[in-house]
Amino acid sequence: MSDAFLSIKDVNKTFGSVHAVDGVSLDIHENEFFALLGASGSGKTTLLRMLAGFEDLSGGDVVLEGASIAALPPNRRPVNLMFQSYALFPHMTVAQNIAYGLEMDRLPRAEITSRVAEILEVIQLGHLAKRKPDQLSGGQKQRVALARALVKRPKVLLLDEPLGALDKKLRSEMQLELKRLQHEFGITFIVVTHDQEEALVMADRIAIMRDGGLLQVGTPQDIYEAPETRFAADFIGVMNFLPVTAGDQGFVARDGSVILADRVNGTGGAIAAVRPERLVLGDRGQNTLRGTVTNTAYHGLDLLLHITTRLSDTPVIARMTAEMADHLRPEMGQEITLSWSAKDTHIFPA
Ligand SMILES: Nc1ncnc2c1ncn2[C@@H]1O[C@H](COP(=O)(O)OP(=O)(O)OP(=O)(O)O)[C@@H](O)[C@H]1O
Ligand SMILES: [Mg+2]
Repeated sequence: MSDAFLSIKDVNKTFGSVHAVDGVSLDIHENEFFALLGASGSGKTTLLRMLAGFEDLSGGDVVLEGASIAALPPNRRPVNLMFQSYALFPHMTVAQNIAYGLEMDRLPRAEITSRVAEILEVIQLGHLAKRKPDQLSGGQKQRVALARALVKRPKVLLLDEPLGALDKKLRSEMQLELKRLQHEFGITFIVVTHDQEEALVMADRIAIMRDGGLLQVGTPQDIYEAPETRFAADFIGVMNFLPVTAGDQGFVARDGSVILADRVNGTGGAIAAVRPERLVLGDRGQNTLRGTVTNTAYHGLDLLLHITTRLSDTPVIARMTAEMADHLRPEMGQEITLSWSAKDTHIFPA
């Protein structure tokens, strides 16, 4: 991709003794859909607020298209922030809510009218233009809040937990909607979420934040398939962890068997990791485990088997597709053998 469009350079933020953002450096590309993912308190909102200009930097710089914006007030930045709790004005109609920012910028009346009409069409809420926010559903309010941010045509749109208030089904619809809008408007999106699945679905790239710093930055596939730390492996998706000791033979599991692994991160390997969907039934791979089915969890799309083994204190989780489950008909207490490849085995230090 091209050179950095938005460069976040060693940005820091302290509140008294709290180091909320700790030396974050990140280059974001033009028209990129970028997701910031992290647990509560990891500094996501604080970072967005600094990009938008609502919070001063304690250190570092923010450069947009080659020029620093760090000292500009919020209204002078071509950046718009959609807040974690999107407050629409209750006494204004949908159209008035959307027009508000343009009126503050003192655009000509005719331009405001045409831009509001255009965006109402894009978000497919033209027929609700005269309604008040309390006459809208959660998803419709969400779309109005988005329209209000998009209508100002920012170069960068920052969205803080934009789908947090929605139920699961509406959330997945809106995830696709957000992608469509981003594509249609050609705006760079930085979206904060603490929902890892949402980040995987929506983003071109993801950054995992932890304790104010960046742990790993990459495409959804990079992050899921090649986590660099045990934290990232655990944070994204489901991962089985099996304690090992590093010896001359390789990585020795608790039952004395050797685990072959291609993806060794760091030295002093202490734990092996494999995703549930990489385990196959029977003795067909380089690594094998035996155990007892002690629980099954039906997810519709697939069935997760919980298998108690001698390899770890927690059960190993294996994913069966509906097709596999039909054949196996797994039962509680059933003895089972699973195997997996070295290429799908990660090793992390203690
Ligand atoms: N104005 C403030 N004064 C003092 N501490 C603050 C302030 N704002 C944020 N913090 C602290 O900074 C850290 C990061 O907060 P932030 O709101 O950025 O987290 P977050 O990742 O957005 O979390 P969440 O997912 O819960 O929204 C937290 O420890 C928080 O308590
Ligand atoms: Mg937050």
